[in-house]
Amino acid sequence: MAEIKCVGILTSGGDAPAMNAAIRAVTRAAIYNGFEVKGIMRGYRGLITGEIFPMKTQNVSNIIQQGGTILKTARCKEFTTPEGRQIAYDTMQKEGIDALVVIGGDGSLTGARIFASEYNIPIVGLPGTIDNDLYGTDTTIGYDTALNTIMEATDKIRDTASSHERLFFIEVMGRNAGFLALNGAIATGAEAAIIPEIATEVDQLAELIQNGFRKSKNSSIVLVAESELTGGAMGLAERVKNEYPQYDVRVTILGHIQRGGSPTASDRILASRMGEAAINALLEGQRNIMVGIQNDELVYVPFTKAIRNDKPINRDLLNTIKILSI
Ligand code: F6P
Repeated sequence: MAEIKCVGILTSGGDAPAMNAAIRAVTRAAIYNGFEVKGIMRGYRGLITGEIFPMKTQNVSNIIQQGGTILKTARCKEFTTPEGRQIAYDTMQKEGIDALVVIGGDGSLTGARIFASEYNIPIVGLPGTIDNDLYGTDTTIGYDTALNTIMEATDKIRDTASSHERLFFIEVMGRNAGFLALNGAIATGAEAAIIPEIATEVDQLAELIQNGFRKSKNSSIVLVAESELTGGAMGLAERVKNEYPQYDVRVTILGHIQRGGSPTASDRILASRMGEAAINALLEGQRNIMVGIQNDELVYVPFTKAIRNDKPINRDLLNTIKILSI
């Protein structure tokens, strides 16, 4: 295996809180171990446009607490084509980058897997997404912060929901995954979570109405995962207006507020540990793997597993919500 001298770092896809903490950890661990480091701007796009700069320890000072990503991010269409990846590879050669650390979600790691197999490049992925939808890791960088943002926003909505005795549908992100909705509902004492994973099995709205909303009060909060399968918060509110007009219903779509903000301690620690692990993985000769965490132990998950397998939700949590919202 060719010796690695220079490691390139990029962040790709939707940003996530603590991506900066991960960039910091990868950069510092790499320098500590004698590697040269180069920052690649705007995800894979930077490999095509050549927006690349050398990174020193000072470049990552004072960023552990910042949301967003100092390397910027993008969803790069060109990189999905063989021609685009050829340009990216040529840029790596020109810049003397021997290995890559890619911080991103499903789409970004899919790009990494294809690129690594086409050009035999050592690539290590870090799971950076608020969605928590990568298989082989208990949690992802940014998920905990997003969950806390959802909790704070929902607590505020609870005040007005209860004053007006209304039913609120609060839509959260997750791109077809119910982790944010499910755990957000538990954290806020919501009456229900409507998630895509069981959308084809049961009519979650009908079930909710049949069971009756919380008996002890007249307001209700339901967290809805954004997805065509759930109908989204708007779709559900429309259904309630038509099918159950006795309810005074309102909708809040939390949107991109969930992607920003200073990362929680958990996310900073996770990103720092994973960033260091990415460099250890390269030192050990690992390639085409994502760093994950299972039972607080760092693990290496082959890209093929992390991306192709659907991460299952914990169905017991649905029952927990039901029991605790009587
Ligand atoms: O994957 C992260 C995510 O925030 C998803 O939850 C969401 O569906 C998507 O990105 C939104 O993407 P964009 O910011 O490009 O609209």
